[in-house]
Amino acid sequence: MTGTDASLPDGVERRELDGDDRLCTRGPPEYGEPTDGEWRAWDARRSKLGGMLELGMDTGLSGGETVLYLGAANGTTVSHVADFAGPTYAVEFSPRPVRDLLDACEPRSNLFPLLKDARRPETYAHVVEAGCDVLVQDVATRGQADVAVENRRFLADDGRLLLAVKARSEDVAAAPDAVFDDVLADLESTYEVLETRPLDRFHEDHLGVVATPR
Ligand SMILES: C[S@@+](CC[C@H](N)C(=O)[O-])C[C@H]1O[C@@H](n2cnc3c(N)ncnc32)[C@H](O)[C@@H]1O
Repeated sequence: MTGTDASLPDGVERRELDGDDRLCTRGPPEYGEPTDGEWRAWDARRSKLGGMLELGMDTGLSGGETVLYLGAANGTTVSHVADFAGPTYAVEFSPRPVRDLLDACEPRSNLFPLLKDARRPETYAHVVEAGCDVLVQDVATRGQADVAVENRRFLADDGRLLLAVKARSEDVAAAPDAVFDDVLADLESTYEVLETRPLDRFHEDHLGVVATPR
């Protein structure tokens, strides 16, 4: 099957690739993913946001948004985001993956890499425009709720937080559900949580969260 799906943003389609029905965006390949002409598969096993879309979560994405992406790593997911979004700011604090991230930015004029610590938003506030439509966060580090709260300042009042919470990053020993409850409670004062979904089909002990500023 090839075609548009109402729950997917413009620029993201399900297409048949190598005999499988795959989520795809249109852009230069970055990580050896299968391609079909201009289209390239978006591997949900390598992308929490891809997993959220595969699971049919209502992300509110429609395409063309201004995006702040925290925890860009080597650019796997954020390269797909930049394929369908507008200006996309990619924050990553580890210099090593940023080398690959720069390669993903090279052919994408709307993708801006920032070698910055997401716990210190004041260090990139002069670059990232205010009123972003979407804040995507996949930092997999302790204090994931705090990072989302600290970066709320960049989000429009009707914007969306698309957050992947990794239980083990908060506490390796605790039960994932207990960790998720704590993270959601910490978000509570700043965000209204619209939807949560375990991402286990693609990412063990991760929770996908869609939220909007209060
Ligand atoms: C799970 S990986 C992200 C994978 C990436 N989002 C993707 O799907 O392609 C988490 C990344 O967050 C980064 N990270 C963790 N804490 C961070 C922080 N405070 N500021 C910026 N990046 C951070 C790590 O260096 C790591 O590259």
